[in-house]
Amino acid sequence: MHPLRLHRRSVLAGIVAALAGPSARAAPRVPLGAAANHYIFPNDAVYRAAIAKHCDVIVAEGAMKWAEIRPSRDEFNFAAGDATVAFAKSHGLQVRGHTLVWCEGNPPWLKTIASASDAESELRQHITRVVERYRAPIDDWDVVNEPIAEKPRSTTDLRDGIWPSRLGPRYIDKAFHIAAEVAPRQRRVLNEYAIEAATPRDTLKRAAFRRLILDLKERGVPLTGVGLQAHLDGSTEIDSEGVSAFCAEMHRAGLDVLVTELDVNDFQLPADIAERDAIVAKRTEQFLSAVFAGCRPKLICTWGITDKHTWMPMWFKRRDGLANRPLPLDASFAEKPMLRVLQRFSRGA
Ligand code: XIL
Repeated sequence: MHPLRLHRRSVLAGIVAALAGPSARAAPRVPLGAAANHYIFPNDAVYRAAIAKHCDVIVAEGAMKWAEIRPSRDEFNFAAGDATVAFAKSHGLQVRGHTLVWCEGNPPWLKTIASASDAESELRQHITRVVERYRAPIDDWDVVNEPIAEKPRSTTDLRDGIWPSRLGPRYIDKAFHIAAEVAPRQRRVLNEYAIEAATPRDTLKRAAFRRLILDLKERGVPLTGVGLQAHLDGSTEIDSEGVSAFCAEMHRAGLDVLVTELDVNDFQLPADIAERDAIVAKRTEQFLSAVFAGCRPKLICTWGITDKHTWMPMWFKRRDGLANRPLPLDASFAEKPMLRVLQRFSRGA
């Protein structure tokens, strides 16, 4: 976050600590965030209230992706992004941006870009317009999302897609350079998933992510933060040592570490709700303990606030037909054990 932009709760916490005397002066809270959907705001007062109550920051779940902003090559449609920002503003919340470059979430016309020079000028135009438009409310962008191959075979295996196919792996460099030219003082994040679990796939993916980040840093590419999406699998242990060593190394390299899309996949967890919620909370705790053992993250953001609105069933519908419960509030907005874990870590546990 911009150093001058203090959040209301941080300010309040500071005043309370100052009144309580020097021994009580703790480090500021780690902000809590959630992905939000502008189209739900007008129809659901409970949703609005839950976000306002539990979040310091929101991120648009889809409103700032290419598919939404760029319905056609000549068009920029900021209606959904603007609605997200307006909600945040009216509730005193910050907004982070997601995402400027990704091989997914793109409009079909993007594939018609054939040459490298067209791709580069399109990338430049898009990043410039979007970052400029939201320069005041947004000082923290996922500049490049999911750069590593889905299932990498080696530590140099990057994701295929429109951008690498037209520009080669240097599309990542270009995106960060352009974003830094437009808004030099913003936070610029490289965001990735499936690097948290104790599985061979995640271990290799984390190694590839690490290698890419250190290479970018060495070549002077201006990224300033690393996002761990943390779509955790409820049934798989976290690689605690691996995650904490990774976070510590990123911190030593001068990068901010952010938890950007936390949720817990309960696809294969027991049906019993209390049992399931306990496992979801435990997995969250195991992951955040590992992160905090490495460094203090700048944000803990969940991919949604309520089980009522989660992307989880798109991919991981439960076989027993029960609804997924991956998030801190249930579908009736009741608080779940996961929420307590998030709040405890936000206070710096
Ligand atoms: C997902 C949204 O949650 C869905 O609603 C949408 O249809 C597809 O994208 N990693 C990311 C997010 O970086 O942008 C994805 O969001 C989830 C995985």
